[in-house]
Amino acid sequence: MRAHPASAAGAADPTRRPATEAILLVGGKGTRLRPLTVHTPKPMVPAAGVPFLTHQLARARAAGVEHVVMATSYLAEVFEPYFGDGSALGLHLEYVTETDPLGTGGALRNVAHRLHSAPDEPVLVFNGDILTGLDIGALVAAHRASSADVSLHLTRVEDPRAFGLVPTDPDGRVTAFLEKPQTPEEIVTDQINAGAYVFTRALLDAIPAGRPVSVERETFPGLLADGAHLHGMVDSTYWLDLGTPEAFVRGSADLVLGRAPSPAVPGRRGEHLVLPGADVADDAKLFAGTCVAEGAVIGSGALVEGSAVLAGARIEPGAVVRDSLVGANARVGANSVLVGAVVGDNAEIGPDNELLHGTRVWCDARIPPAAIRFSSDQ
Ligand code: GDD
Ligand code: MG
Repeated sequence: MRAHPASAAGAADPTRRPATEAILLVGGKGTRLRPLTVHTPKPMVPAAGVPFLTHQLARARAAGVEHVVMATSYLAEVFEPYFGDGSALGLHLEYVTETDPLGTGGALRNVAHRLHSAPDEPVLVFNGDILTGLDIGALVAAHRASSADVSLHLTRVEDPRAFGLVPTDPDGRVTAFLEKPQTPEEIVTDQINAGAYVFTRALLDAIPAGRPVSVERETFPGLLADGAHLHGMVDSTYWLDLGTPEAFVRGSADLVLGRAPSPAVPGRRGEHLVLPGADVADDAKLFAGTCVAEGAVIGSGALVEGSAVLAGARIEPGAVVRDSLVGANARVGANSVLVGAVVGDNAEIGPDNELLHGTRVWCDARIPPAAIRFSSDQ
């Protein structure tokens, strides 16, 4: 595994050698994404026609990664039947399941024995819900060049409160790690942890075993207190945490539109992506990165904009669906309007309903005809 053939450039510049191993953290419960995550773990919810994780795996492969260990917990059993040994993606995939969730750091420690890298070699770590154009090779190169213990991809956001804040000094050395700051005084920077790291392997082995550990709340602050060298690389390329329904829908549309890069989108980029086996009426309109999955049906005169229609779902004639996700085998009745809504798997929305921003219809729910409206009747 370590005998990765060095490219001509790699031979000339040792900092450009790729990291060949990665750990993917995919064990979270995805509570903010419910009902999408009731039957499906967050990384397996389809984005642009394939389980979201496919995009991350394909990008890692393209950056030179050969061996990926998946740290699973919630609904762990669904990953392996889909991805198998990873050979379809040109990867060697392994799965390690926590019986009780061990947190992000505990999960890393729990899978570390599956790595082949030497103690001083770099290992990539990815949160399993990030869509990004990060130059993975550049993060590894920065890690090698700075001889850091851990290197972190950082990005800038307007409101950093939902993230880990990572101030750095002018050389990029991390000076603090403040996970989900609670008070205004703690908001010392707009640079946040973007959820991709390079660990020197020995540091993964040093995380305490057999108990829950948060890499953000315990490992990173502890390493800083011990004088370890954490390096932050700010990269302002496309970046989105797909942890909320709105973000997930936007990420899927951005993949279809080509705004978010991925080698795994199953078709040409453009206004829409219709997978084989979907049935779209000639006069239906699909815009703004809409994805229609296999077996889905879009009726006559329907308008679907910036949305994801999952496998087997039906959008009936005259319905309008904007910035929404319609779950597998769900139905949106004729002339219903959905804007910024999420419809769980197998749910049925009768005709003439109006479901606006933030509506989440649970899996298997039944909404009768003309039962919900926001706007007044004229
Ligand atoms: N195996 C395993 N076990 N994985 C876990 C566990 C666990 O107990 N808990 C969380 N994960 C995985 C999730 O599946 C996800 O891929 C990743 O770890 C991060 O968890 P999230 O629940 O998505 O965390 P977050 O979005 O609130 O915050 C994290 O990501 C931000 C960037 O999006 C933190 O790393 C923040 O510091 C960061 O800014
Ligand atoms: Mg997240």
